[in-house]
Amino acid sequence: MSRQSTIEHLGSHRPSVLPSLLLCDFGNLAAEMEMVEQAGATSLHLDVMDGVFVPNFTYGMTVVDAVNRVSELPLDVHLMMVQPEKYIEQFAQAGADLITIHAEAVDDAPAVLEAIRRLDVASGIAINPGTQVAEIEKAIPHADLVLVMSVQPGFGGQSFNEQVLPKFEEIRNLPGGENVLLEIDGGINKSTIGTATAAGAELLVAGSAIFKQADYTVAVNDLMSEAKCLK
Ligand code: DX5
Ligand code: ZN
Repeated sequence: MSRQSTIEHLGSHRPSVLPSLLLCDFGNLAAEMEMVEQAGATSLHLDVMDGVFVPNFTYGMTVVDAVNRVSELPLDVHLMMVQPEKYIEQFAQAGADLITIHAEAVDDAPAVLEAIRRLDVASGIAINPGTQVAEIEKAIPHADLVLVMSVQPGFGGQSFNEQVLPKFEEIRNLPGGENVLLEIDGGINKSTIGTATAAGAELLVAGSAIFKQADYTVAVNDLMSEAKCLK
């Protein structure tokens, strides 16, 4: 999918819940992807962790490629790694439609975001709970999406930190901030999703609130109804 089509796709599905494939059953990848698609997911969130930027290790481009081959849905690839600029081309080739880098992991975020765009992939910049919005002010005009982390990245199943919520309004008020997609990741569940959308979050990543539930359709529907009703 081209960068423009990805932006339009994500923009036209707001609010939406993006299943985070951290806790899915990778031994049954095709069946899992079919189930989340039938449950109503319109994009998938893939968490790449390198054991250096975060104290956990997940998967790299081979799994992104495997997901891409079994699902038609756009792939939102969240790179929790140092020196992401070295690998963006390989992630693009593996089928990433959106690549999000961490502000804390790069020296020159605008340059990496533009390098992602040159691959015809949508660009995202993520900030950890302790990183202030002012630190990405120069990067925002080069980003198609800003991801606000509502947990310290590294693990699924952590509790939601609502202190990050005012960041969405701050981002919107900065130059270029009116154009970016706003995403939140970490601790999203039935009780927290409504406050996230009320604060301005549009794309809501959910791991345990989907993959730890028996019925993915019920899980996605429950999240979506809470996301919409408090907006
Ligand atoms: C956290 C990851 C998240 C995580 C979300 O480091 O980036 O995407 O898997 O999982 P839950 O929804 O369980 O917090
Ligand atoms: Zn993530």
